[in-house]
Amino acid sequence: MTHPPGAVDPLMVAFNESFPYDKRMWQADITGSQTYARGLHRSGVLDAAECEALVAGLEAVAAEWHAGQFRAAASDEDIHTANERRLAEIVGAVAGKLHTGRSRNDQVATDMRLWLRDEASRIAGLMKEMVACAVGRAEAELDVIMPGYTHLQRAQPIRWSHFLLAHAWSWQADAERLIQLSKRFNKLPLGSGALAGNPFNIDREWMAKDLGFDGIVPNSLYGVSDRDFIAEFLNWASLTMIHLSRISEDLIIYSTSEFAFVQLADAYSTGSSLMPQKKNPDSLELIRGKSGRIFGNASGFMMTMKGIPSTYNKDLQEDKEPLFDTVDNITGCLQIMTGVLSTLTVNADNMKKALSVDMLATDIAEYLVRKKVPFRETHHIAGRAIKMAEDRKAPVSSLTVADFKTLHEAFEEDVVELWDFERSIETRNAAGGTAKESVREQIRLMKAWLASV
Ligand code: ARG
Repeated sequence: MTHPPGAVDPLMVAFNESFPYDKRMWQADITGSQTYARGLHRSGVLDAAECEALVAGLEAVAAEWHAGQFRAAASDEDIHTANERRLAEIVGAVAGKLHTGRSRNDQVATDMRLWLRDEASRIAGLMKEMVACAVGRAEAELDVIMPGYTHLQRAQPIRWSHFLLAHAWSWQADAERLIQLSKRFNKLPLGSGALAGNPFNIDREWMAKDLGFDGIVPNSLYGVSDRDFIAEFLNWASLTMIHLSRISEDLIIYSTSEFAFVQLADAYSTGSSLMPQKKNPDSLELIRGKSGRIFGNASGFMMTMKGIPSTYNKDLQEDKEPLFDTVDNITGCLQIMTGVLSTLTVNADNMKKALSVDMLATDIAEYLVRKKVPFRETHHIAGRAIKMAEDRKAPVSSLTVADFKTLHEAFEEDVVELWDFERSIETRNAAGGTAKESVREQIRLMKAWLASV
């Protein structure tokens, strides 16, 4: 294909433009430009009337976006050129002064931070709602007991609330990390110019304050180059998705007929197109599945970043789609998980029925420990009790006191008190355990955290 000299291949025009997806940052772009106009006025580049015209004109552009009336032009390469083009149509020649000393390089770096700051705080709010939902259930269903698993093998009895809170604690840590990383990137790159800095003595500290940043990025090359905040966010999202994916897997297993511990509400499951008896946990499967694309966004973006030279290169435009996709999908996952959790039916009877007395083997050993027998020894004796019961094809609780006495003289009449799951649970009352008081303490701590963020 040939093109007239100087003309850009139309395919290249489309290939180059980011407007179709970066237009969602319109508000950040307008806000950043309004502050920049005021900064130019403070440094004497614009007089008061020019500054006012630009700020008001930008407001008019924002109003069009807001009303869904912004008309894109073929020449709109990205949100920055689009807003400036429209500003010029509204306010005339003075619009040509807005970009004095600024580059799209420091502009886009600023817009991305402004945009992500709002999104991150919205997402932190969704995380809080999800934690609050788990805490609410944990409090209401404190008496529900179930098998706890390791290796997916029945291990020891635990409270359902303890299980729920285990997940909630990982979300709490995720939310804390999100708040921390948001503080780290809340620094202003604007005033870095294309790379070398601003030649009009723009007051960057003032602009930082005006835009609610905690300070400025202290080096202009770094200011236009840095996208670590995006990498950090994408990796944050990946870790958070690991947690959402793991609880999804737990609940999918617990919702099978084989377990039947929980039942998903109709609102979050679908029927089969072929098999009328089926109720599929699509919501949880999609959360588990979407974790893959979110990891992909993070690793793909890091691969984009690793080879590029310092400062701005067009490769950096590739930060947007993985970021937007991750923000949109994690938003959906958090909302759906909260929906699933708040509507899930718990079948406490089935959970209880799944408990078996062999899960109290550790309690036999602990019984002897309380009678001063060394733990290593008690472990063997408990094993022999389990073996004795197995040989008789009977549960360990059917062994008599006399049977136990053949295994160790420290066994007494009170050994029969062991066959009580609730009792076993209540012995684990050190901080962080599954005993009711320990779980209540976790609920108290979690509520205090929710009230503090
Ligand atoms: N759309 C571009 C991006 O997202 C804006 C920066 C363009 N800068 C440049 N020097 N071409 O990265």
